[in-house]
Amino acid sequence: MTCSHAPPWQAICSRQALENGQFFEFSLAVAEQNVDTLPLTGFAFLDGDTPRAYVNRCPHMGIELNWVPGRFKDTDNLFLQCSTHGALFKPRDGECIAGPCQGDALTALDIREAGVILEVRLPE
Ligand code: FES
Repeated sequence: MTCSHAPPWQAICSRQALENGQFFEFSLAVAEQNVDTLPLTGFAFLDGDTPRAYVNRCPHMGIELNWVPGRFKDTDNLFLQCSTHGALFKPRDGECIAGPCQGDALTALDIREAGVILEVRLPE
């Protein structure tokens, strides 16, 4: 008998919901959320044809990146951008390439396709 301690997967949206540059925001069903911190949320999008998902928390101050629902890109539509101080993150791996947390990175979530539904693995 095998025993897996890997966290479970959570369905978030259909792949179709991410077409045309759309972002999808979701709550993470983490069992033990600290009441002193913000609820854990994430966002998903298509990087080219590849679905990607990150925890919606800027490494600079630990707050959500976006002020406007679904708005995560810079004006050139090249990088993910934090609305508070303008840090820029590479969509592919979440690395901060400019701003107060340069060299740090967003927390990536494993994402997979299960039929037409996208699922993320819950953080431990
Ligand atoms: S809170 Fe994101 S760059 Fe400062």
